[in-house]
Amino acid sequence: MSKNVIFCFSGTGNCLDIAKNIAKGLGDTDIVLMRKAPAVTNVLNAERVGFVFPCYAGGLPGKVEEYVRRIAIGPDAYKFAVCSCAAYPGLGLSIIDSIVDLDYWSVISHQSACIWLMPHSMMMPPLKADKAQKRSEELAARVTSDVLAGKKLSGKPAAPAFNKMEAALWPKLSLKKAAKLQVSDACVSCGQCAKLCPRGNIRLENGKPVFGKDCVQCLGCLQFCPAGAIHMGGATVKRERYHNPHVTAAELTETVLHID
Ligand SMILES: Cc1cc2nc3c(=O)[nH]c(=O)nc-3n(C[C@H](O)[C@H](O)[C@H](O)COP(=O)(O)O)c2cc1C
Repeated sequence: MSKNVIFCFSGTGNCLDIAKNIAKGLGDTDIVLMRKAPAVTNVLNAERVGFVFPCYAGGLPGKVEEYVRRIAIGPDAYKFAVCSCAAYPGLGLSIIDSIVDLDYWSVISHQSACIWLMPHSMMMPPLKADKAQKRSEELAARVTSDVLAGKKLSGKPAAPAFNKMEAALWPKLSLKKAAKLQVSDACVSCGQCAKLCPRGNIRLENGKPVFGKDCVQCLGCLQFCPAGAIHMGGATVKRERYHNPHVTAAELTETVLHID
């Protein structure tokens, strides 16, 4: 096992990009993608264990909490977490802290992946894509130096009441949104969406995607579709697509990425 392990959930690549940038700074790091079947749960020998994940509706993406609860971490490991969001981090850091007792945490806002709700530039503060990416890289470098220095934060990550309400409402709303996923005639039957889905929720029928009910709304299928053929109802037809410029769909289908 590598000296450092970072558990990462990422739909449009922002979190994987952050995890890769931190890993490059730390060296000898396994990035474990938190996909459907937990691939790695025993990291008892890792010196540093990190978590990088997005805020979804004030909470964590579906099943991330369950995954984190299964991870066995050594008693002396340094534990850190980074939440990527468009505007606010919500409860994710607080939930992960309640499970693993974090030493350090940070928030990096980036392009919004929430295509059905708002344009990508609606992050806080509003920024163009290239500037948002640059800032994300700078903040990841700051996190890396803090982690290398073993910085420990006092207190606990915030858990605002508003986010609790939002996260509680999300599962029902999410199901409604997922029911609107559809594919147009532009589909080129490449099958990338099925490979990419972190929940294994997309199957191919005659080469075309069929969406199941275990969608966590990461929107990787829609944002990475090379033909722009996946939509979530009419609202997304004309919206531009976004995925992180330094992350490929192939990387997001990996289980573990090793960075020296
Ligand atoms: C379903 C969904 C819900 C989201 N909810 C929030 C939110 O409540 N607050 C926020 O600031 N950003 C929210 N976002 C934006 C993401 O947290 C942000 O785009 C993040 O960088 C995505 O990371 P990724 O590219 O690794 O998937 C949401 C995105 C999605 C797809």
